[in-house]
Amino acid sequence: MTDIKVTKSQGSRIGNVDWNNLRFGVYFSDHIFVADYIGGKWGDFRIEPYGQMPMEPSLCTLHYGQSIFEGLKAFPDQNGGVNIFRPMMNAKRLNHSASRLCIPEFDENILIEGIEKLVELDKQWIPKAEGCSLYIRPVVYGSGNFLGVHASDTYRLIVMTSPVASYYPEGLNPVKILVTSDYVRVVRGGLGSAKTAANYAASLLGGMKAKEHGYAQVLWLDAISREYIDEVGAMNIMFVIDDTLVTPPLDQGTILAGVTRDTVLALAREWGIKVAERRIAITEIIEAHRNGYLKEVFGTGTAAVISPVGLLNYKDQDMIINNGEIGELSKKFYQTITGIQTGKVEDNHKWNNHINIEL
Ligand SMILES: Cc1ncc(COP(=O)(O)O)c(C=O)c1O
Repeated sequence: MTDIKVTKSQGSRIGNVDWNNLRFGVYFSDHIFVADYIGGKWGDFRIEPYGQMPMEPSLCTLHYGQSIFEGLKAFPDQNGGVNIFRPMMNAKRLNHSASRLCIPEFDENILIEGIEKLVELDKQWIPKAEGCSLYIRPVVYGSGNFLGVHASDTYRLIVMTSPVASYYPEGLNPVKILVTSDYVRVVRGGLGSAKTAANYAASLLGGMKAKEHGYAQVLWLDAISREYIDEVGAMNIMFVIDDTLVTPPLDQGTILAGVTRDTVLALAREWGIKVAERRIAITEIIEAHRNGYLKEVFGTGTAAVISPVGLLNYKDQDMIINNGEIGELSKKFYQTITGIQTGKVEDNHKWNNHINIEL
């Protein structure tokens, strides 16, 4: 057990929450878990009230972007208690991002301990309605005050939490996606496999233009040939081509190693579905669509779990997928994964970190 000092908030802000309209990322629970890296080690582990933090104009992260983050969720278990889904994968990914951004690694077990303690303390913030959850956002940033391009000597880790509704209040809903070759998000050798602020900043303009034209998100192609598929803005992408589930590989270093991606691939392999992690040219997708082999397309990510794609647009040509309807496999993955997260489906893989608390 790590020594985590707890300072409780004076009064709760929970009365401000509109529980019938839990838009993503709007409400923040009363407490945060914090740690500082000073003098070459992480320490001063503490839970304190959520609130304003003093900052100097020379905060290095504002200027040079040395910041990384994670996103995971805690779900009420229908049999009692709370399930945090696969937090060790997020903790390991945070450290992968850390090493790419020259940020010192954080003890994975202490991170999970801090998260569990935080969730327990703010348990009344966990929404009870079907499909809702408590979103957990760890972030680490250089906390030094200086100008000059070099890594910071000091860092801060913060974990905050936020109650969120189901991504699909009316059930799974296919989305329209624009395949862009005008903009690129990451490049081989760059930051693509890290969950770092810069990647999201790079995606904003393309994403905004796609929204102006009625698309929910952008599907990014590789930055060099602009031919091979990488991923969607905040999701990995999967294709059912004939009888095979195909998804871009991790070895190019240009996509995030999604926890949901890993979960879907593990289930698919168990269910006896053929799986291929390999490079996919956009021309292959066009061809498979033309020949009737492109059965399903869906995104995978913590926010939506599974996001069926009903339409892909590439160079002004629309590809309607599965008549714009949700595919059987997309539905099965969605039901199985959300079932495991909420205790409706047995968790054979021990993916849930179960906290035995009364809600
Ligand atoms: C760029 C990007 N790709 C993929 C994902 C999906 O990852 P996960 O399934 O771990 O949420 C996310 C979301 O975190 C993301 O931001």
